[in-house]
Amino acid sequence: MFVSAVLLDGKGLSRDIEDELKIRVEELNKGGIKPHLAVILVGDDPASQVYVRNKENACKRTGIKSTKIILPSSTSEKEVLDLIGQMNEDEDIHGILVQSPTPKQINELKITNKIDPSKDVDGFHPQNLGKLVQGDTNGLLPCTPAGIMRLLKNAKINLEGKKVTVIGRSRIVGMPLSLMLAQKGVDATVTITHSRSKNIEQICQSSDVIIAAVGRPEFVKKEWVKNSSVVVDVGISRVLDKSTGKNKLVGDVEEAAMEVASHMTPVPGGVGPMTIAMLLTNTVVSAAKKGN
Ligand code: GUN
Repeated sequence: MFVSAVLLDGKGLSRDIEDELKIRVEELNKGGIKPHLAVILVGDDPASQVYVRNKENACKRTGIKSTKIILPSSTSEKEVLDLIGQMNEDEDIHGILVQSPTPKQINELKITNKIDPSKDVDGFHPQNLGKLVQGDTNGLLPCTPAGIMRLLKNAKINLEGKKVTVIGRSRIVGMPLSLMLAQKGVDATVTITHSRSKNIEQICQSSDVIIAAVGRPEFVKKEWVKNSSVVVDVGISRVLDKSTGKNKLVGDVEEAAMEVASHMTPVPGGVGPMTIAMLLTNTVVSAAKKGN
């Protein structure tokens, strides 16, 4: 296939970030601080199991201590809230993450609100999101949006005055990312589209940057992508490849968009590793603040 886009290599950049973090972790260790991330996984969703394992492995690579707590899918909301309460009090834990999605008896917003904002390495607590709305980006920022911003910055993609379309308005990606893109100093003109939006195709066609976070395999077609625009693909889905009869991983954007885009994230190896790198960064930042 003819490929013209420059790949936005999240895997490579995330390894560079991990190398820097490793040094910071060693310095913190010398001062008696051992950065420590606690991950809670409720239930047995196979995709979540993979994500949590990837987070654990990344902690190992950088010298961050990680504790994984796996609870059965029948766990009550109160049990999870109580566990978070204990972790909030535990001075040895610097970051707490409850893997999403949780089983339906557990309200994710209640979980988010319970986590001590200083240990909220997901950046989902209203206090941290509120700072973002106020234009203060020094708090703990949501990992996937922060990873995308870092990837674009690293590739020297100037967003000032650019038309950026975000597809998806989730609490985890679309909403916080839109705020970051529109903040002073970044200065993008942001359009948020979602399942009720009309003419997404045309909106994309007039965009300088498309960021797809809908969770629908190959939702964005090559024909939607303007020549020389930038495409960031947040999605990752396993689908059957009809030509080989085997499963393959695809994003929210058709791979053929590479033929028209100037820059594009690969799937896998684009946004995913950056999310983890930002989680590690938040954990180290949180640990370093405790040491002050
Ligand atoms: N599930 C998918 N992405 C995320 C994330 O960034 N954080 C948590 N906690 N769960 C997720």
